[in-house]
Amino acid sequence: MSDDRFSGQTAVVTGAASGIGEAITARLLSEGANVVGIDLARDALDRMADEFGRSFLPAPADVTVEAQVAAAIDTAAAKFGRVDLAFNVAGAARVGAIVDLDEADWDFTVDLVQKGVFLCTKHAARHIRASGRGGAIVNVSSLNALMPMPAGSPYSTGKAGVVMFSKTAAVELAPDRIRVNTVLPGLVDTPLVAPVMAYEPAREMFLERIPAARPATPEEIAGPCLYLASDDASYITGASLVVDGGWELTNYPDLRKLGS
Ligand SMILES: NC(=O)c1ccc[n+]([C@@H]2O[C@H](COP(=O)([O-])OP(=O)(O)OC[C@H]3O[C@@H](n4cnc5c(N)ncnc54)[C@H](O)[C@@H]3O)[C@@H](O)[C@H]2O)c1
Repeated sequence: MSDDRFSGQTAVVTGAASGIGEAITARLLSEGANVVGIDLARDALDRMADEFGRSFLPAPADVTVEAQVAAAIDTAAAKFGRVDLAFNVAGAARVGAIVDLDEADWDFTVDLVQKGVFLCTKHAARHIRASGRGGAIVNVSSLNALMPMPAGSPYSTGKAGVVMFSKTAAVELAPDRIRVNTVLPGLVDTPLVAPVMAYEPAREMFLERIPAARPATPEEIAGPCLYLASDDASYITGASLVVDGGWELTNYPDLRKLGS
């Protein structure tokens, strides 16, 4: 698809260098936006800058470090003159059974999926508010916000927190005409889940629970994210949109049954 829904607007996308964030970035650029891509993966961002040209600004930064987030978004506003949209996508997980899990692995995961969303929302919203034009923020959570992941407590807990953070932000930022919504993807074919998907017994345990019988493509998550950021969703805020091929209707596989 290529129309101009976001022409003249500037979007901040975290996790822009891979998977869902990369798909959101490509789609935003094809629909007229300028995009600031925040990610740890500096080389991948540079390759994207070569591919996409002047509308894409690579902003290497760690979303869990406030000074880096603030600098990246300030740079974006200075280059493009405004910030209208933010997509908080960066994420990863360190997993382990609760009785064995290291404190550092809990902190790593919850900081990344939860504090990262808070920091990027904070600094993007400051710029959107300053523009006086309003805008939209889309936070990528996970079906695991609703469905426990055995041996994934920091991830499930962190992603559940993203849903409530988004609802709280939706209320706080409504007077500034900033809408905040959450997308909860099910299984998406990205590098994040490639190791699990490459292991056939685990892949089967996932796919037998998904009525669509396949993972989503990153583009199938990008589309709903852009919809929530668009004017078509002008009266939607604080909403949680599950995009999972029907998986919520079944349940989460317990991969511990496969052994370690
Ligand atoms: N793939 C799935 O099945 C799935 C399902 C539900 C939710 N999600 C969520 O979707 C989001 C995107 O996942 P994906 O599958 O595209 O993963 P991905 O691994 O392909 O991409 C994640 C990106 O985030 C970046 N990143 C990680 N830590 C960062 C940090 N501290 N600062 C800045 N960037 C950082 C990585 O470098 C990477 O480019 C994540 O929040 C993930 O939890 C994914």
